[in-house]
Amino acid sequence: MEAFSTISGIRKWVRSARAANETVCLVPTMGYFHEGHLSLMREGRKLCDRVVVSIFVNPAQFGENEDLDAYPVDLERDKSLARAEGVDAVFVPSSDQMYPKEFQTYVELTRIPGHLCGLSRPGHFKGVATVVAKLFHIVEPDRAVFGSKDYQQLLLIRRMAEDLNFDIIIDGAPIVREEDGLAMSSRNTYLTEQERRSALSLSRSLDLAAEMIDRGEKDPGKLAREMERLILSHPGTRIDYVKPCDPETLEKVEAIRGPLLVALAVRIGRTRLIDNRIFHPER
Ligand code: PAJ
Repeated sequence: MEAFSTISGIRKWVRSARAANETVCLVPTMGYFHEGHLSLMREGRKLCDRVVVSIFVNPAQFGENEDLDAYPVDLERDKSLARAEGVDAVFVPSSDQMYPKEFQTYVELTRIPGHLCGLSRPGHFKGVATVVAKLFHIVEPDRAVFGSKDYQQLLLIRRMAEDLNFDIIIDGAPIVREEDGLAMSSRNTYLTEQERRSALSLSRSLDLAAEMIDRGEKDPGKLAREMERLILSHPGTRIDYVKPCDPETLEKVEAIRGPLLVALAVRIGRTRLIDNRIFHPER
């Protein structure tokens, strides 16, 4: 596995792969790998001849009072995990390279960030769209894989790729969970034992939503209220949002009829966790 820290280095490597008629898949990450990240690398290997993983804790997507400084880092461990997955190259740029002093160009979407995480994390998706657009230009992959754990992010990247005519296929991969249901996240490492137990309330509330929808519940308000009740019965939880909505537009739905996204964000102590599930209820 090759490791590059410069834009020119990774560019040259990708261009020679493409010159040899090899297809290239990019897996953008902020590192501190868990099974969720590794599943994207495996998916990438299935889809393309070469897999490039970028590792960059992108300051532009963290708000003033967020966890940029605390974000876990272990580059050596990440590299050996990526190597074991058969990744061909990792790209680990410095902040100075990605955002030189003169930097002033951002990518902003007009509608998708007006929902869900965009409301509690102003500027977050502008930072995500900007860094992913930069990575797309730097690596020029044929495909890029993103996890549906960050459903809104996946939707936003798909929209951006379409709107800005990136010639890149965007692949979505399923959410990887711990055995007990907790969606894997680099931020799970912040949780104390007690908080880890309360963190189960997210996936449990989605199980409850599944049961209610199976039983024929059509009222999204009632679904959200019951989920909130279950979450708040766990100690130390504070709800950011619990939203049943349209999976394409993220707009509120009046009744549960077609496909439904149920997305939620919950603070547990100082840690903010997200989860979601898509339902296809019978009409
Ligand atoms: P990060 O949180 O490191 O996640 C990198 C990729 O892993 C994202 O596509 C995310 O959706 C996926 N992922 C995380 N947890 C997952 C899980 N439990 N199951 C499946 N996939 C999972 O998302 C980012 O980084 C950044 O915003 C980034 C896109 C790299 C831009 O900076």
